[in-house]
Amino acid sequence: MTGRFITFEGGEGCGKSTQLHLLQEYLQKRQIDVISTKEPGGTEIGLELRHLLVTGDKDKMDAIAETLLYYADRRIHMTKKVWPAMAEGKWVLSDRFADSTVAYQYYGYNKKVEKSVLDNLYQVAVGDFKPDLTIILDIDVEVGLNRSFAKAAGMAEKETRHESRGLEFHQLLRQGFLEIAKQEPQRCVVLNADKSIEELHREIVQVVNERLGLA
Ligand code: TMP
Repeated sequence: MTGRFITFEGGEGCGKSTQLHLLQEYLQKRQIDVISTKEPGGTEIGLELRHLLVTGDKDKMDAIAETLLYYADRRIHMTKKVWPAMAEGKWVLSDRFADSTVAYQYYGYNKKVEKSVLDNLYQVAVGDFKPDLTIILDIDVEVGLNRSFAKAAGMAEKETRHESRGLEFHQLLRQGFLEIAKQEPQRCVVLNADKSIEELHREIVQVVNERLGLA
């Protein structure tokens, strides 16, 4: 595969969608063939799974059921969209990927699901493939949740199932993302997201240029 796979990760309201699109514009200006996508919901079936996963009562399913559905979405996403695009040489920017499952369904739920279950599912659905670069946007939990609820206020259907889980869940998953980055420093970069959109974009461009050899 000749394309690259860059994932954006972080807690609620960290600004990853905005930053992903700014990076896409930057890469396009540099004549790179790049697409943006997201999990859950990067495909047609994925959008249906997204609806099930992010709306409604927080307790309508448990961490194991969620993990399985996120992995169903991921498998479809990889086979139908990400890998075909990469095979054509495209760069793919994804708003969330497997680190979100580790952060939310493992750390967020205080490790109620065995980590080995997640590792096995990753192997089944994704194999040895990994992102070339993962940008983790770190933000204070309350600042992020406030942003996220403000955004949801304008939505016809509220995608706030996880937002409604309370501060402890979000604090655990924030620490989870930091732990993931510590374990895989060659793949992950953590950036403090509590700054202006422009400043954060400049930092992301610098990281991408350095890490992926664009210079
Ligand atoms: P988004 O709002 O950033 O698009 O993400 C959708 C929600 O799904 C968000 O609350 C994070 C959550 N999520 C998980 O819990 N596990 C996962 O594996 C993924 C991809 C997302």
